[in-house]
Amino acid sequence: MAQKKPLNIGLVGYGFMGRTHSNAYKQVSQFFDLEYRPVLKAVCGRSEENARKFAENWGYESFETDWRKIVERKDIDAVDICTPNDSHAEIAIAAAKAGKMVLCEKPLARTLKESLPMVEAVEKAGVPNTVWYNYRRVPAVTMAKQLIEEGRLGKIFHYRANFLQDWTISADLPQGGAGLWRLDAAAAGSGVTGDLLAHCIDTALWLNGSIDTVTAMTETFVKERKHNLTGKVEKVSIDDACAFLCRFQNGSLGLFESTRYARGHKALYTLEINGEKASIRWDLHDLHRLQYFTHDDEGKLRGWRSIHVTDGDQPYMKHWWVPGLQIGYEHSFIHQVADFLENLAAGKPCSPTFREALETQAVCDAVLDSAETKQWQSVVL
Ligand SMILES: NC(=O)c1ccc[n+]([C@@H]2O[C@H](COP(=O)([O-])OP(=O)(O)OC[C@H]3O[C@@H](n4cnc5c(N)ncnc54)[C@H](O)[C@@H]3O)[C@@H](O)[C@H]2O)c1
Repeated sequence: MAQKKPLNIGLVGYGFMGRTHSNAYKQVSQFFDLEYRPVLKAVCGRSEENARKFAENWGYESFETDWRKIVERKDIDAVDICTPNDSHAEIAIAAAKAGKMVLCEKPLARTLKESLPMVEAVEKAGVPNTVWYNYRRVPAVTMAKQLIEEGRLGKIFHYRANFLQDWTISADLPQGGAGLWRLDAAAAGSGVTGDLLAHCIDTALWLNGSIDTVTAMTETFVKERKHNLTGKVEKVSIDDACAFLCRFQNGSLGLFESTRYARGHKALYTLEINGEKASIRWDLHDLHRLQYFTHDDEGKLRGWRSIHVTDGDQPYMKHWWVPGLQIGYEHSFIHQVADFLENLAAGKPCSPTFREALETQAVCDAVLDSAETKQWQSVVL
């Protein structure tokens, strides 16, 4: 292949996602043969000392302490937004207006309403864009999509997903500020719905199609917490737990649950789909395996297969080691960068685009509306 084209990345936010994305940009060119090569041009964080340290550690050429500088810089091609949810819209819209490509962390924004101008901005500017719903790119999940598209499950009856954690059980945990912005509705938009169920919903929409109607319940178990930014004890406005039922357009029924109060669970994302011919099941704690049951098997041999998704003819795996050796969580981000760059070279969009991610926002809004009104709600885009 001819010399690779550099794609200069400006990363905003150097927390958890700042690290997973930086790792992805650094590794992608070694494992995927792509026309574009990401260059770690600049990282932005509000603390000069931390931004400098992060830049040194990950090999960024420079750092900034105001994201507007990243957006203005002529030597940045793509802005990658890894900040809390309340800043996604402002940064994305400014970046698109400046003609930058935009890669934005999920959820796109705090609400559907806040997401709409982001879609308008990237589409008006005609800039490539994507949202980091990375679980689509875990090879076993991508293979689930293939099996469904090949018609192996037949008509789908049920879709079930959970995302369970336990880190906010202590009533002494404050809300707001660094590391705890997820408990502050002003920064996060919502609790587990926008944070965890957004992942489950994105995967579900991708695997099983649109959702028509939802009915939900939410609970905030700890009603007041000290706010780190004001120092005062304040009302907690996020949903600590959420469960919802839904009807998909294809006639199947959905059941979703997420909580940060499931003692013993750290990040248990599981999904199961039951069709007339076969079922599949996936579990983030065993992310390289896809559980598959097919009724086509001879009766006496029928049973759940635990497929170790590590072979060269399984999604993404030919780019990695040798058959039988598994990869991990961080690879889902590397795959998203690889797909973004491949689509960029081909002049194609990289799913989910901002527009595609709107549907997840619409479902989240309907879920929260339903919990509040205690009524079924239609998903309105
Ligand atoms: N795709 C996934 O699986 C996944 C996982 C975790 C988080 N996320 C999403 O990624 C985003 C970031 O989450 P995180 O876990 O990395 O959070 P984090 O708290 O670890 O990091 C957030 C970073 O943003 C920085 N920041 C905040 N405001 C800023 C500003 N105005 N300018 C520059 N930097 C600013 C903070 O200093 C921090 O470095 C959120 O939208 C979250 O929902 C996605």
